[in-house]
Amino acid sequence: MSERPKVLVTRPIMEEPTKVLSDRCDVTIHENEFGIPREELLTIVKDIDAVITMLTEKVDAEFLEAAGPQLRIVANHAVGFDNVDLAACTAAGVMATNTPDVLTETTADTAWVLLMATARRIGEGERLLRARRPWIWGPLMMLGQDVHHKTIGIVGFGRIGQAVARRALGFGMKVLYADAVDLPKDITEPLGAERRELDDLLAEADFISIHVNLTPATRHLFGAEQFEKMKDTAVLVNTSRGPVIDEAALADALKAGQIFAAGLDVFEREPDVHPGLLELESVVIIPHLGSATVDTRNAMGLLAVENVFAALDGTSPPTLLNPEVLEGA
Ligand code: DGY
Repeated sequence: MSERPKVLVTRPIMEEPTKVLSDRCDVTIHENEFGIPREELLTIVKDIDAVITMLTEKVDAEFLEAAGPQLRIVANHAVGFDNVDLAACTAAGVMATNTPDVLTETTADTAWVLLMATARRIGEGERLLRARRPWIWGPLMMLGQDVHHKTIGIVGFGRIGQAVARRALGFGMKVLYADAVDLPKDITEPLGAERRELDDLLAEADFISIHVNLTPATRHLFGAEQFEKMKDTAVLVNTSRGPVIDEAALADALKAGQIFAAGLDVFEREPDVHPGLLELESVVIIPHLGSATVDTRNAMGLLAVENVFAALDGTSPPTLLNPEVLEGA
């Protein structure tokens, strides 16, 4: 490796991590507003020592081969890593990392914003005023659902799910969770969180917030069958990954009044949004802003850079996803 390693960053990141990285490495930052076309990505990754990727880039065997054998690390600038084929990275001897923890509270805030906005019809109210439509205060106007003292069901009770539960406590809510594992008492007891099977949680919860990773098992975890089990007053929030919800089925369920509303930060065919959802007043949609704050994006960038430096130094990166790659080293 040359004295100054070559690093590719696939989208501009915050100034501070960019500076820290550039002080030590020759950095190429791809500036295309709408991401790198695949063919171009496969060309520019060639001969790179480390790459900082976004959730918009697919990292698979083809990508790793295009990069070449000198590639040490794929540092994903996101906590989710469904865009990265970990087995392919390990097979190629490439470390893969993500950016957990630093975005937990911010993403939980986003889930909470969506929960409140959907329950209280904030998007609809905004649209009414901006459209300059006539209105007057009325006792039956735009009634929403109370949040306080209701039951929240959290699907996927990891770091972000637990952070959402902490917020729910402040609203006097009862907390249920569904997860592949039974979480230890030191986590559940302070939150008063009770475990349920998913079907029971769907039937019992007034608010459902999704916090699972996208895997083959969670793709379309929410579809027509699940919406049928939910209360007709229920609010669904998703800040995890879009394909966890079958969007066509969600649009049908909302149209049929099977559930009350949905707040979505992520989409099945991102950046596209199912046209059926765009038509509905009962949907609050935002463009994947879960971790989008100045402080958090700075922290994510710095963690990605820390991971890159560790890999270049031949040490174990702090948030390594495929530690088995070190066994082969
Ligand atoms: C993540 O980190 O996985 C988010 O979806 C991007 O902010």
